[in-house]
Amino acid sequence: MPSMSFSDYISSSPSLRYLFFGGKGGVGKTVTAAGTAKFFADLGKRTIISSTNPVHSLSSIFQRDIWGKGVQKISENLYAIEFNIERTVERYRADMREKLMAFIKSADIPVDPEPFLDAATTNPAFEEAAMFDEMVDLILKDEFDVYVFDTAPVAHTYRLLGLSKVYDLWLKRLIKSREEALSTKVKLSFRKEKILEEMKKDPILQSALETRKKTEEAKKILTDSSKTAFFFVTLPLALPIAVIERFITWVKAFDIPIGGVIVNGVIPKSLGRVPNPSTYVVNKLKEQDGYLELIHQKFPDLVRAYVPLYEREVVGLEMIGKVAEALRSGGFELIQ
Ligand SMILES: Nc1ncnc2c1ncn2[C@@H]1O[C@H](COP(=O)(O)OP(=O)(O)O)[C@@H](O)[C@H]1O
Ligand SMILES: [Mg+2]
Repeated sequence: MPSMSFSDYISSSPSLRYLFFGGKGGVGKTVTAAGTAKFFADLGKRTIISSTNPVHSLSSIFQRDIWGKGVQKISENLYAIEFNIERTVERYRADMREKLMAFIKSADIPVDPEPFLDAATTNPAFEEAAMFDEMVDLILKDEFDVYVFDTAPVAHTYRLLGLSKVYDLWLKRLIKSREEALSTKVKLSFRKEKILEEMKKDPILQSALETRKKTEEAKKILTDSSKTAFFFVTLPLALPIAVIERFITWVKAFDIPIGGVIVNGVIPKSLGRVPNPSTYVVNKLKEQDGYLELIHQKFPDLVRAYVPLYEREVVGLEMIGKVAEALRSGGFELIQ
């Protein structure tokens, strides 16, 4: 057994609190994230699983409408939150409008802000940024022991870390120029104590400072390998393997801690050892063997667990409990 198992990895990282799941659509990110959340809840940790996915995947797996309803208790130590991102985007838009109007007013620019707002907010990056913000806000509230994020915003995280230098420079300049503009205004009135007061009220400066603080905190958390781990979920198939290979290269480049790879949907090899196995099973197992070998070659020492392909969809706490059990055991017997 060359790789450290999921259980061993978790016990070797006692301060682990933030777990992210990435991978191609449909590979079982929600399933393994829910299994992981159950795993931690069973250890007695107050655990929350969170999703910003617009397809209501948590409502579906927990068989309860929790979408847009805030934190919901699922079972002992297990909580879930499914964000309504459309609503977040709407709120951001209103907030941006307010700030833009204040700016236009203070700078005396006679311009209609609507086209700018449209351009800024009807952009997929805006939605992604909103999701990212919800995630950081949830973390910063610090109400849980363990946070499991279904579907990591891998692309956004990657961009955030890559752009953070440029972004930081831009924010620094923005902050400096707002400070200068305000202090000139205040100096003219010869009332120094008004400088601070005015600055505190300036909505543009405030939001720039807040964004910067949040970006920094997010960056600190995301790159702390004692607290954070990204897990990559794949099926024993070519395309999902290629997707996580790309993700792993990205996150490595930015020192985002990699928890490991979870191989989902594994057909137990024992099915081929029954008397007269069907050709279908024999062929599928042969194909699977090839991909398991490929996974082994591409991600040596990273496979943490094999989760079996169940006879039916994974919905409801009982099935999620089975996934938690598979993670706990590592499922290495499936491939023997
Ligand atoms: N190991 C498994 N056995 C059986 N069905 C599974 C398994 N893993 C996932 N599924 C099913 O496959 C579908 C996709 O899984 P899901 O976790 O929603 O993928 P993702 O979140 O990566 O898009 C769901 O219907 C789920 O119930
Ligand atoms: Mg999902």
